[in-house]
Parts: sequence; C-alpha cells; structure tokens
Amino acid sequence: DIQLRTLFRETEKYADQEIVVHGWVRTNRGSNKFGFIELNDGTFFKSVQVVYEAEFIDNFEEIAKVPVAAALKVKGDFVLTPNAKQPFEIKAKEVVVEADSASDYPLQKKRHSMEFLREIAHLRPRSNTFSAVFRIRSLVSYAIHKFFQENDFVYVHTPIVTGSDCEGAGEMFRITTLDMDNPPRMENDSIDYSQDFFGKETSLTVSGQLEAETFALAFRNVYTFGPTFRAENSNTARHASEFWMIEPEVAFADLSDNMDLAEAMIKYIIQYVLEHAPEEMEFFNKFMDKGLLDRLTALVNAEFARVTYTEAVELLKKSGKKFEYPVEWGIDLQTEHERYLTEEIYKKPVFVTDYPKEIKAFYMRLNDDNKTVAACDLLVPGVGEIIGGSQREERYDVLKARMDELGLDEKDYWWYMDLRRYGGVKHAGYGLGLERIIMYLTGMGNIRDVLPFPRTPKTAEF
Ligand code: 4AD
Ligand code: MG
Repeated sequence: DIQLRTLFRETEKYADQEIVVHGWVRTNRGSNKFGFIELNDGTFFKSVQVVYEAEFIDNFEEIAKVPVAAALKVKGDFVLTPNAKQPFEIKAKEVVVEADSASDYPLQKKRHSMEFLREIAHLRPRSNTFSAVFRIRSLVSYAIHKFFQENDFVYVHTPIVTGSDCEGAGEMFRITTLDMDNPPRMENDSIDYSQDFFGKETSLTVSGQLEAETFALAFRNVYTFGPTFRAENSNTARHASEFWMIEPEVAFADLSDNMDLAEAMIKYIIQYVLEHAPEEMEFFNKFMDKGLLDRLTALVNAEFARVTYTEAVELLKKSGKKFEYPVEWGIDLQTEHERYLTEEIYKKPVFVTDYPKEIKAFYMRLNDDNKTVAACDLLVPGVGEIIGGSQREERYDVLKARMDELGLDEKDYWWYMDLRRYGGVKHAGYGLGLERIIMYLTGMGNIRDVLPFPRTPKTAEF
C-alpha cells in the first residue's frame, strides 16, 4: 500500500494509477448513491478524500454507515483534482472495513478545545494539531542528536535516580520504597531514610549537569538528552513536573563559547524543521501563529542579541512599562520581564548574562566583581526562557567558599570537588528545555500540549 505522506509529497507520480491505502475514517458523509470519506493513516496530518459510489463498490450500504475512527483498506484510482479544494481524491473500487468503531468516539470533526483534548490524551494524537506537534517533537529530537553528533559530541546517559540536587532549589521528587507494612517514620523530627533507595536518600534528577561535567572533563564535548523532574508546584503554561532537557557540556570553553554553541544549535534545529516538515510548519503558521514562518526563516541568518543582566534591568526600568513585579537590580527576572525584553525591546532571541550570584545556582563561575556569575539564559519571543546555562566554577577554593555560604557540605559533593582537583580546566554548558523550544517552533501556547502525556500538578491522568 501507499502511505499518505508519500502520496502528498510525490503526488504526480501516482496520478491516474490504481493504489491501495489504509487509514482511519475522519468523516463520512453522502447520499444514497455516493459518499465521501476523509481517510487519514497517521503518516501525515492531512487526510485524503475517498469517493465511493453504489455503482462501483459492492458493499455501498455497509460503507455508508461506517463510523468515524473505523479502519479501512481502500483500493481505487488516484485522480488529481486541481480545481477542487482537495488536490486529489481516490475513486474507490473496493473498500474493506478492517476495524469497526463505537459510535461514542469523542473526536468529531469540529474544533475541540485544548482543555478537552488534554482529558483524552490517549486519543488526541489522532487530531491534526497533535499529529503535527508530535511529528515536530520527533524531528526536533532527531535534529538535536544530529547537531551534536555531527560536531563530535559524546552522548552521555546521566542518571535519573540521583543523590545530588543540582539546582539547589529543593524541587526534587524523593524516591521511597512503598512498604505499607513499614511506612516511612519520623524520628527526631526528620524522616527515617531506611525506606529510601536501599537506605540512601535519593531523588529523581532535576538536571544531568553535574554528572555531565564529569564526562566533559574526560571527553571534552558531551551532551545529555533525557527526562528531568521538578517538584515545583507552579501551574503555569511553561512548567511541567516531567520534561526533557538537552544539556551539552564543553571543557576548555567559556561563557562566550557557550552562547556561540547554543546559537548554532538553535539555528540548526530551526533549519532542520523548516526543511523536513514544511507542511506542518505551514499549518502552525496558519492556525497557531501568523508570521511564525517569516520570523523563524529570518532568524537563521540573524544574530541573537546579548545583554548583561545589569543592562537588562536598566532597559526595563527605562521602558516606563508598569510591571506587576517591580524591577530592581537583584530580582529574578519574571516571565513578564523576559517577554518584554525579547518581544518589545529586541524582537528576537536574546541572551541575558552575568546574573547576581544570589539568584543562581552554586556551581556558576563567580565574576571579578564578586557580585555576579557567568550565567547565560536565552529568552525568546512568545515563550521567555528556553535555555539556562553558565560557565562553571572551576577554582576549588572559590567553589568551596560559595558552597560554605550556601550551607552545602563539601563531603556530599566529594566527586564534584575532585573534578576541580584533577585537571579542573574551565568548562561551560547549558540546558535547553525540549518542550520550550517546541512551543517556540510551533506557536503552541501551553506546555501540556507539546508533551505526549503531560505530568503537571493538575494533569497526570495516565
Ligand atoms: O535553567 P535551568 O533550571 O538550568 C539547569 O537545570 C542547568 N543545570 C542546565 C545546565 O546548565 N546544564 O533549566 C534549563 C532549562 C530551562 O531554560 C527551561 O527551558 C527548562 O530547562 N525547564 C523547564 N521546562 C519545563 N518545565 C519546567 N518545570 C522546567 N524547568 C526548567
Ligand atoms: Mg533557568
């Protein structure tokens, strides 16, 4: 048989030929002499129109009653229809019902709300929008691997179960052995960890960075790409409890090298997706965000902006805009500030660098001013932060002093400290949120709609 993706892309080749397709019914309407079925086989988000007539098929009555979601095999003539709304159709000669469907199928041919579709996460991949979204998600993942592999990066699988809190934000999901006969006890006001991972206190990782650093100091160029977990109880359109993160880490690199790498990677991903999913990207341009294609296309040859945190705060203050959360040097930039910077001031992606050390993690390299650290966040229009990165503190004494300030025990990080003792050269890396870049590329407005099975404080149906 022929898959729809092929049919849509190599249409001319099949003109006036007899073909066989398989697919599921999206709509079925007609009269007592002929009918039209929109058939979709999942290989493309668009459907092919099947015309069936009582005169040409011998089970007309049966086919006229076929419900939405039933699976069919269709044999017929492939005909180009350049003057019709559909570019082509199949004139059926034989239609076989391969699987029937119940009549209460919830996905009917109308615009369903995103909220409704989230409640049927097991069926929504069958809709046009989610067909396009998850194909893009697959392509973006592949493009990311391709980019790093072509640049000789080693892919390292950092652990999901870990004993260290990379970001120090206390947003880790703890792992416990569920033993109902011996539930976790409180002893002297603290939890008895004997129920944990073989007696050790462990959690799901919030970032593979610390482990990636160990590999960067062995392989020079490495990256991770895996699931990440955050127990932040924030119900926003950009936060999920389980998301995927890409974290490159490079030895002998500083902050500026780090931003060059991030910029090259983002441009590579954009170009890859524009080239390999032009139809899906047209679809998002039409239905999600007009101007998306122009913006992305222009970006491939544009230079991303770079501004220090201190300059950014000045720009925001001078803007005269009344923010809900007032801008002062020292504040963590909120989504409203990030979006104003990238949407109103720069109108393109912007790296904000050198944040106050108080609002960043312990491992970031202290700048000479002793107040800021060598951090770089990439903000993009429509989404805000998609990348968080930094040059790492490679100086043992400076790192130790910072950890002391934060009350982190050196002993808990002995292996991380060792990296500073044995050839601990300068190095840098960043984390790209996979869902955030997919939102940016598609114009989808909610992280729940770019995750196949979103886990957020309120949605974890499956
Ligand atoms: O800025 P973050 O917290 O940085 C780190 O975890 C570093 N250890 C990365 C590194 O340097 N290797 O997270 C990085 C990115 C964010 O910019 C965002 O895109 C995404 O991960 N992210 C989330 N995405 C969805 N839901 C959440 N709750 C997210 N938290 C972070
Ligand atoms: Mg961040």
